[in-house]
Amino acid sequence: MTSLTIIRPDDWHLHLRDGAVLKAVLPWTANLYGRAIVMPNLKPPVTTVDAALAYKEQILAHLPAGSNFEPLMTCYLTDSLLPSEIKKGKETGAFTAAKLYPAGATTNSEHGVTNIKNIYPVLEMMQEVDLPLLIHGEVTDSDIDIFDREAVFIERVLTPILADFPELRVVSEHITTSAAVDFISSQSDRVGATITTHHLMINRNAIFKGGIRPHMFCLPIAKREEHRLALRRAATSGDSHFFLGTDSAPHLTHLKENDCGCAGIFNSPNTMECLAQVFEEEGALDKLEAFASLNGPRFYGVPVNSDTITLEKQPPNNIPAEVAVEGSDNGVQVFTPPEPLTWRVC
Ligand code: NCD
Ligand code: ZN
Ligand code: ZN
Repeated sequence: MTSLTIIRPDDWHLHLRDGAVLKAVLPWTANLYGRAIVMPNLKPPVTTVDAALAYKEQILAHLPAGSNFEPLMTCYLTDSLLPSEIKKGKETGAFTAAKLYPAGATTNSEHGVTNIKNIYPVLEMMQEVDLPLLIHGEVTDSDIDIFDREAVFIERVLTPILADFPELRVVSEHITTSAAVDFISSQSDRVGATITTHHLMINRNAIFKGGIRPHMFCLPIAKREEHRLALRRAATSGDSHFFLGTDSAPHLTHLKENDCGCAGIFNSPNTMECLAQVFEEEGALDKLEAFASLNGPRFYGVPVNSDTITLEKQPPNNIPAEVAVEGSDNGVQVFTPPEPLTWRVC
Protein backbone atom coordinates (compact mmCIF):
# COMPACT_ATOMS: atom_id res chain seq x y z
CA MET A 1 0.00 0.00 0.00
CA THR A 2 1.42 3.44 -0.88
CA SER A 3 -1.44 5.71 0.05
CA LEU A 4 -4.02 5.58 2.82
CA THR A 5 -7.07 7.81 3.26
CA ILE A 6 -8.87 7.74 6.59
CA ILE A 7 -11.52 9.79 8.32
CA ARG A 8 -9.89 12.78 10.03
CA PRO A 9 -8.48 11.65 13.40
CA ASP A 10 -9.09 13.10 16.87
CA ASP A 11 -6.73 13.21 19.83
CA TRP A 12 -8.49 11.99 22.97
CA HIS A 13 -5.68 13.00 25.37
CA LEU A 14 -3.67 16.16 24.73
CA HIS A 15 -1.74 18.77 26.70
CA LEU A 16 -1.80 22.17 25.03
CA ARG A 17 -0.54 24.25 28.01
CA ASP A 18 -1.18 28.00 27.82
CA GLY A 19 0.58 31.24 26.80
CA ALA A 20 3.55 31.02 24.46
CA VAL A 21 3.79 27.22 24.56
CA LEU A 22 0.11 26.90 23.58
CA LYS A 23 0.72 29.23 20.65
CA ALA A 24 3.74 27.18 19.54
CA VAL A 25 2.23 23.70 19.79
CA LEU A 26 -1.43 24.25 18.87
CA PRO A 27 -1.03 24.37 15.05
CA TRP A 28 0.46 20.86 15.08
CA THR A 29 -2.82 19.54 16.43
CA ALA A 30 -5.29 22.02 14.97
CA ASN A 31 -4.13 21.55 11.37
CA LEU A 32 -4.61 17.79 11.40
CA TYR A 33 -7.07 16.64 14.06
CA GLY A 34 -10.78 17.37 14.22
CA ARG A 35 -11.04 17.49 17.99
CA ALA A 36 -8.96 16.91 21.10
CA ILE A 37 -9.66 16.27 24.73
CA VAL A 38 -7.61 19.03 26.35
CA MET A 39 -6.06 18.14 29.66
CA PRO A 40 -6.71 20.52 32.58
CA ASN A 41 -3.36 20.28 34.41
CA LEU A 42 -2.41 23.91 33.98
CA LYS A 43 -0.92 26.04 36.74
CA PRO A 44 -3.37 26.68 38.37
CA PRO A 45 -5.47 23.70 37.25
CA VAL A 46 -8.80 24.06 35.43
CA THR A 47 -11.27 23.28 38.21
CA THR A 48 -14.30 25.42 37.34
CA VAL A 49 -16.70 25.98 34.47
CA ASP A 50 -15.45 29.57 34.16
CA ALA A 51 -11.82 28.47 33.98
CA ALA A 52 -12.63 25.85 31.33
CA LEU A 53 -14.48 28.40 29.21
CA ALA A 54 -11.68 30.95 29.56
CA TYR A 55 -9.11 28.31 28.60
CA LYS A 56 -11.20 27.28 25.60
CA GLU A 57 -11.39 30.93 24.48
CA GLN A 58 -7.62 31.19 24.74
CA ILE A 59 -7.21 28.10 22.55
CA LEU A 60 -9.72 29.31 19.96
CA ALA A 61 -8.00 32.71 19.84
CA HIS A 62 -4.74 31.02 18.80
CA LEU A 63 -6.18 28.73 16.12
CA PRO A 64 -4.51 28.93 12.73
CA ALA A 65 -6.65 30.67 10.09
CA GLY A 66 -9.23 28.36 8.57
CA SER A 67 -8.93 25.66 11.25
CA ASN A 68 -12.16 23.99 12.36
CA PHE A 69 -10.43 22.30 15.28
CA GLU A 70 -12.66 21.83 18.31
CA PRO A 71 -11.08 21.71 21.79
CA LEU A 72 -13.06 19.56 24.23
CA MET A 73 -12.51 20.78 27.76
CA THR A 74 -12.03 18.82 30.95
CA CYS A 75 -12.30 19.52 34.66
CA TYR A 76 -9.43 18.74 37.05
CA LEU A 77 -10.81 16.86 40.05
CA THR A 78 -9.68 17.95 43.50
CA ASP A 79 -10.60 16.80 47.00
CA SER A 80 -12.80 19.88 47.41
CA LEU A 81 -14.57 20.13 44.04
CA LEU A 82 -18.35 20.40 44.44
CA PRO A 83 -20.72 18.04 42.62
CA SER A 84 -22.71 21.13 41.59
CA GLU A 85 -19.76 22.32 39.47
CA ILE A 86 -19.78 19.01 37.61
CA LYS A 87 -23.51 19.33 37.00
CA LYS A 88 -23.12 22.88 35.71
CA GLY A 89 -20.20 21.86 33.49
CA LYS A 90 -22.21 19.05 31.96
CA GLU A 91 -25.38 21.09 31.48
CA THR A 92 -23.57 24.04 29.88
CA GLY A 93 -21.40 21.80 27.72
CA ALA A 94 -18.28 23.39 29.24
CA PHE A 95 -16.94 20.00 30.37
CA THR A 96 -16.68 16.98 28.08
CA ALA A 97 -15.13 14.93 30.87
CA ALA A 98 -13.40 15.22 34.23
CA LYS A 99 -9.89 14.09 35.01
CA LEU A 100 -8.65 12.21 38.03
CA TYR A 101 -5.02 12.82 38.89
CA PRO A 102 -3.98 10.98 42.03
CA ALA A 103 -2.07 13.69 43.96
CA GLY A 104 1.63 13.47 43.15
CA ALA A 105 1.25 10.96 40.30
CA THR A 106 2.45 13.16 37.43
CA THR A 107 3.13 16.67 36.09
CA ASN A 108 1.03 19.35 37.84
CA SER A 109 -0.90 16.81 39.89
CA GLU A 110 -0.21 18.34 43.30
CA HIS A 111 -3.79 19.61 43.53
CA GLY A 112 -5.09 16.15 42.62
CA VAL A 113 -7.09 13.70 44.67
CA THR A 114 -5.45 12.40 47.85
CA ASN A 115 -7.98 9.63 48.52
CA ILE A 116 -10.52 8.37 46.02
CA LYS A 117 -13.23 8.32 48.71
CA ASN A 118 -12.95 12.11 48.91
CA ILE A 119 -14.51 12.42 45.47
CA TYR A 120 -17.23 9.78 45.77
CA PRO A 121 -20.00 12.45 45.84
CA VAL A 122 -18.49 13.94 42.67
CA LEU A 123 -18.32 10.52 40.99
CA GLU A 124 -21.95 9.98 42.00
CA MET A 125 -22.87 13.18 40.19
CA MET A 126 -20.74 12.29 37.14
CA GLN A 127 -22.53 8.97 36.92
CA GLU A 128 -25.90 10.69 37.22
CA VAL A 129 -25.28 13.31 34.51
CA ASP A 130 -23.16 10.94 32.38
CA LEU A 131 -19.88 12.84 32.39
CA PRO A 132 -16.97 10.48 31.61
CA LEU A 133 -14.19 10.03 34.16
CA LEU A 134 -10.67 10.11 32.69
CA ILE A 135 -8.02 8.57 34.87
CA HIS A 136 -4.27 8.86 35.25
CA GLY A 137 -4.11 5.34 36.60
CA GLU A 138 -1.07 5.07 38.84
CA VAL A 139 -0.80 4.69 42.58
CA THR A 140 1.65 7.01 44.29
CA ASP A 141 2.75 4.91 47.26
CA SER A 142 6.51 5.19 47.67
CA ASP A 143 6.76 1.47 48.41
CA ILE A 144 5.31 0.57 45.01
CA ASP A 145 7.87 0.32 42.24
CA ILE A 146 7.41 2.92 39.49
CA PHE A 147 7.03 0.14 36.90
CA ASP A 148 4.23 -1.51 38.92
CA ARG A 149 2.14 1.57 39.67
CA GLU A 150 -0.36 1.09 36.86
CA ALA A 151 -1.06 -2.57 37.57
CA VAL A 152 -1.50 -1.86 41.29
CA PHE A 153 -3.86 1.04 40.51
CA ILE A 154 -6.09 -1.27 38.48
CA GLU A 155 -6.36 -3.63 41.41
CA ARG A 156 -6.68 -1.15 44.25
CA VAL A 157 -8.53 1.82 42.72
CA LEU A 158 -9.95 1.22 39.25
CA THR A 159 -11.67 -2.08 40.05
CA PRO A 160 -13.49 -0.61 43.09
CA ILE A 161 -14.52 2.53 41.13
CA LEU A 162 -16.07 0.41 38.39
CA ALA A 163 -17.88 -1.72 40.97
CA ASP A 164 -19.15 1.23 43.02
CA PHE A 165 -20.29 3.24 39.98
CA PRO A 166 -21.69 0.68 37.57
CA GLU A 167 -23.01 3.26 35.08
CA LEU A 168 -20.05 5.66 35.16
CA ARG A 169 -18.16 5.85 31.87
CA VAL A 170 -14.43 5.62 32.41
CA VAL A 171 -11.32 6.04 30.28
CA SER A 172 -8.07 4.63 31.55
CA GLU A 173 -5.65 7.12 30.02
CA HIS A 174 -2.31 6.31 28.40
CA ILE A 175 -2.20 2.63 29.36
CA THR A 176 1.26 1.05 29.32
CA THR A 177 0.95 -2.56 30.47
CA SER A 178 -0.39 -5.88 29.29
CA ALA A 179 -2.34 -6.00 32.59
CA ALA A 180 -4.21 -2.86 31.52
CA VAL A 181 -4.85 -4.21 28.02
CA ASP A 182 -6.31 -7.43 29.43
CA PHE A 183 -8.36 -5.61 32.04
CA ILE A 184 -9.84 -3.02 29.65
CA SER A 185 -10.63 -5.46 26.87
CA SER A 186 -12.62 -7.59 29.33
CA GLN A 187 -14.88 -4.65 30.31
CA SER A 188 -18.17 -3.54 28.79
CA ASP A 189 -18.20 -0.64 26.34
CA ARG A 190 -18.66 1.95 29.11
CA VAL A 191 -14.92 1.52 29.76
CA GLY A 192 -12.19 2.51 27.29
CA ALA A 193 -8.49 3.27 27.18
CA THR A 194 -6.25 5.64 25.29
CA ILE A 195 -2.86 4.56 24.01
CA THR A 196 -0.10 7.04 23.20
CA THR A 197 2.12 7.23 20.15
CA HIS A 198 5.35 6.75 22.05
CA HIS A 199 4.24 3.75 24.11
CA LEU A 200 3.68 1.90 20.81
CA MET A 201 7.24 2.69 19.72
CA ILE A 202 9.56 2.60 22.71
CA ASN A 203 10.17 0.34 25.67
CA ARG A 204 11.99 1.32 28.84
CA ASN A 205 15.41 0.73 27.30
CA ALA A 206 14.90 3.92 25.28
CA ILE A 207 15.12 5.99 28.48
CA PHE A 208 18.66 4.73 29.15
CA LYS A 209 20.11 4.17 25.67
CA GLY A 210 23.80 5.07 26.01
CA GLY A 211 23.00 7.46 28.86
CA ILE A 212 19.97 9.09 30.39
CA ARG A 213 17.45 10.32 27.82
CA PRO A 214 15.18 12.93 29.35
CA HIS A 215 13.12 13.30 26.17
CA MET A 216 12.06 9.66 26.47
CA PHE A 217 10.78 10.18 30.00
CA CYS A 218 7.04 10.38 30.52
CA LEU A 219 4.48 9.06 32.95
CA PRO A 220 3.38 6.39 33.08
CA ILE A 221 6.95 5.44 32.35
CA ALA A 222 7.58 3.14 29.36
CA LYS A 223 7.65 -0.51 30.42
CA ARG A 224 9.31 -3.74 29.23
CA GLU A 225 9.14 -4.85 25.59
CA GLU A 226 6.41 -7.42 26.29
CA HIS A 227 4.14 -4.57 27.35
CA ARG A 228 4.87 -2.51 24.25
CA LEU A 229 3.96 -5.55 22.16
CA ALA A 230 0.68 -5.98 24.07
CA LEU A 231 -0.16 -2.31 23.44
CA ARG A 232 0.58 -2.73 19.73
CA ARG A 233 -1.71 -5.74 19.55
CA ALA A 234 -4.49 -3.81 21.33
CA ALA A 235 -4.18 -0.67 19.21
CA THR A 236 -4.03 -2.55 15.92
CA SER A 237 -6.76 -5.05 16.80
CA GLY A 238 -9.63 -2.74 15.90
CA ASP A 239 -11.15 -3.43 19.38
CA SER A 240 -13.27 -0.36 20.07
CA HIS A 241 -12.12 -0.15 23.71
CA PHE A 242 -8.84 1.34 22.49
CA PHE A 243 -8.34 4.72 20.87
CA LEU A 244 -5.70 7.34 20.21
CA GLY A 245 -4.72 9.73 22.96
CA THR A 246 -1.30 11.06 22.05
CA ASP A 247 -0.58 12.43 25.54
CA SER A 248 1.53 14.94 23.65
CA ALA A 249 2.99 16.80 26.63
CA PRO A 250 5.30 19.69 25.73
CA HIS A 251 7.93 20.93 28.18
CA LEU A 252 10.65 23.47 27.36
CA THR A 253 13.95 21.72 26.67
CA HIS A 254 15.74 23.13 29.73
CA LEU A 255 12.98 21.80 31.97
CA LYS A 256 13.49 18.28 30.64
CA GLU A 257 17.29 18.42 30.51
CA ASN A 258 17.38 19.20 34.18
CA ASP A 259 18.42 17.73 37.54
CA CYS A 260 14.71 17.00 38.04
CA GLY A 261 13.48 16.74 34.47
CA CYS A 262 9.75 17.01 33.73
CA ALA A 263 7.76 14.01 32.58
CA GLY A 264 6.16 14.31 29.16
CA ILE A 265 6.85 13.60 25.48
CA PHE A 266 5.84 16.04 22.74
CA ASN A 267 4.61 14.03 19.76
CA SER A 268 1.90 16.10 18.06
CA PRO A 269 4.08 16.92 15.03
CA ASN A 270 4.67 13.29 14.04
CA THR A 271 2.01 11.09 15.62
CA MET A 272 0.10 10.15 12.46
CA GLU A 273 3.38 9.37 10.67
CA CYS A 274 4.47 7.21 13.63
CA LEU A 275 1.13 5.42 13.74
CA ALA A 276 1.16 4.63 10.03
CA GLN A 277 4.57 3.04 10.55
CA VAL A 278 3.44 1.01 13.58
CA PHE A 279 0.24 -0.18 11.91
CA GLU A 280 2.12 -1.11 8.72
CA GLU A 281 4.69 -3.08 10.74
CA GLU A 282 1.81 -4.94 12.38
CA GLY A 283 0.16 -5.62 9.02
CA ALA A 284 -2.85 -3.64 10.18
CA LEU A 285 -3.01 -0.42 8.16
CA ASP A 286 -6.70 -1.20 7.66
CA LYS A 287 -7.20 -0.76 11.44
CA LEU A 288 -5.57 2.68 11.73
CA GLU A 289 -8.85 4.45 11.03
CA ALA A 290 -10.62 2.55 13.83
CA PHE A 291 -7.92 3.47 16.34
CA ALA A 292 -7.41 7.11 15.35
CA SER A 293 -10.79 8.20 13.99
CA LEU A 294 -13.67 5.85 14.89
CA ASN A 295 -13.33 4.27 18.34
CA GLY A 296 -12.94 7.56 20.25
CA PRO A 297 -16.09 9.18 18.82
CA ARG A 298 -17.97 5.98 19.51
CA PHE A 299 -16.94 6.02 23.18
CA TYR A 300 -17.73 9.72 23.60
CA GLY A 301 -21.01 9.39 21.68
CA VAL A 302 -20.18 12.00 19.05
CA PRO A 303 -20.21 11.71 15.24
CA VAL A 304 -16.98 10.90 13.47
CA ASN A 305 -15.34 13.76 11.59
CA SER A 306 -16.89 14.51 8.21
CA ASP A 307 -13.74 14.77 6.09
CA THR A 308 -10.59 12.70 5.56
CA ILE A 309 -6.81 12.89 5.62
CA THR A 310 -4.39 11.05 3.37
CA LEU A 311 -1.06 9.48 4.24
CA GLU A 312 1.52 8.53 1.64
CA LYS A 313 4.40 6.07 1.80
CA GLN A 314 7.16 8.69 1.61
CA PRO A 315 9.58 9.91 4.27
CA PRO A 316 8.10 13.04 5.87
CA ASN A 317 9.76 16.35 5.08
CA ASN A 318 8.08 18.80 7.42
CA ILE A 319 8.70 17.46 10.91
CA PRO A 320 10.97 19.72 12.96
CA ALA A 321 13.35 18.35 15.58
CA GLU A 322 12.21 21.16 17.84
CA VAL A 323 9.36 23.67 17.88
CA ALA A 324 10.40 27.21 18.82
CA VAL A 325 8.57 29.06 21.59
CA GLU A 326 8.18 32.83 21.38
CA GLY A 327 10.06 34.75 24.06
CA SER A 328 12.09 31.73 25.16
CA ASP A 329 15.64 30.61 24.36
CA ASN A 330 14.33 27.09 24.66
CA GLY A 331 11.92 25.29 22.40
CA VAL A 332 10.10 21.99 22.76
CA GLN A 333 11.84 18.90 21.42
CA VAL A 334 9.74 16.62 19.21
CA PHE A 335 9.58 12.88 19.94
CA THR A 336 12.31 11.04 18.02
CA PRO A 337 11.04 7.64 16.93
CA PRO A 338 13.54 4.76 17.06
CA GLU A 339 13.55 4.29 13.26
CA PRO A 340 13.30 6.87 10.47
CA LEU A 341 9.69 7.51 9.50
CA THR A 342 8.44 6.24 6.15
CA TRP A 343 4.94 7.75 5.91
CA ARG A 344 3.91 11.35 5.55
CA VAL A 345 0.66 13.23 5.91
CA CYS A 346 -0.12 14.86 2.56
C1 NCD B 1 1.91 14.91 31.37
C2 NCD B 1 2.21 16.40 31.39
O1 NCD B 1 3.36 16.79 31.16
O2 NCD B 1 1.31 17.20 31.65
N1 NCD B 1 3.15 14.19 31.44
C3 NCD B 1 3.36 12.90 31.09
O3 NCD B 1 4.46 12.43 31.29
N2 NCD B 1 2.44 12.17 30.52
C4 NCD B 1 0.96 14.55 32.47
C5 NCD B 1 0.29 13.22 32.29
O4 NCD B 1 -0.40 12.99 31.29
O5 NCD B 1 0.41 12.36 33.18
ZN1 ZN C 1 -1.31 11.21 32.94
ZN1 ZN D 1 -1.30 13.37 29.71
